[in-house]
Amino acid sequence: MNDKPLIVESISRSFGGVEVLRDFSLAIARGEFVAIVGPSGCGKTTLLNLLAGFDKPDLGHVKSNGRGRMVYQQDGLFPWSTVSENIKMGLRHFQDEAARTRELKEMLALIGLEGFEDSYPHQLSGGMRQRVELARALAGDTDTLLLDEPFSSLDYLKRLRLRRELARLLRERPRTVVLVTHDIEEASQLADRVVVLSERPAQIRCELNLELDRPRDPTHPLVVEAVYRILTALGLEQYGVESVESVESVESAQSF
Ligand SMILES: Nc1ncnc2c1ncn2[C@@H]1O[C@H](COP(=O)(O)OP(=O)(O)OP(=O)(O)O)[C@@H](O)[C@H]1O
Ligand SMILES: [Mg+2]
Repeated sequence: MNDKPLIVESISRSFGGVEVLRDFSLAIARGEFVAIVGPSGCGKTTLLNLLAGFDKPDLGHVKSNGRGRMVYQQDGLFPWSTVSENIKMGLRHFQDEAARTRELKEMLALIGLEGFEDSYPHQLSGGMRQRVELARALAGDTDTLLLDEPFSSLDYLKRLRLRRELARLLRERPRTVVLVTHDIEEASQLADRVVVLSERPAQIRCELNLELDRPRDPTHPLVVEAVYRILTALGLEQYGVESVESVESVESAQSF
């Protein structure tokens, strides 16, 4: 397989008079975990839709090799289908019923939801529903996960737990991941590379590489430093924090 399974090359995309992306390029390596952060409305979901092939650029090229799955911010589960039925939708490519059942069992074990296979989404907590969504996305032979703020509707502790869960799931089933998030700590805790976007039309403001095993403690100095650098790239100075060197600034940065 190509070692750059996701490439966007000089893409532009406008909606009506709104220029969302202009001459935008990004290449994501196989197995890489890239987080994308940026101001609301700058074009992150637009970019994911282009990567997923749900939308086409006005100019430029999108190359994606392999199969991708999208996980949305809001509940993407079918409310009238059980946990099993929802996960099985990710297993449609299995011809053989026995193989599908085996895979389903494995996914349920992976997300720790054995015993809930016949529950409906409304009978589960938000965190459990998100785990089912991740399982559905991870099921089978997908190469790429496109995650659009998948944990944003959860409280802080659940988000922390699901980040660990995602890190563990990816260790067992490595995937290329593009995670769009407003949560800078989440990006710093999970990603190999954080791409910070500007206001619309989105340009890459800076990129940050994090070479640190997952799962990562949110208080690990490198994670804290990354949070801090991203905030700076997003324009933290406007909040009155000028220095990126002092420890006090790191602490005050975190309280945003
Ligand atoms: N299908 C569409 N038709 C018209 N305008 C659109 C469409 N999709 C996106 N836009 C516009 O493109 C801009 C970028 O939207 P997008 O959803 O990509 O932003 P975003 O970075 O994901 O924002 P948020 O962080 O709030 O989710 C917005 O101004 C939005 O109104
Ligand atoms: Mg969005």
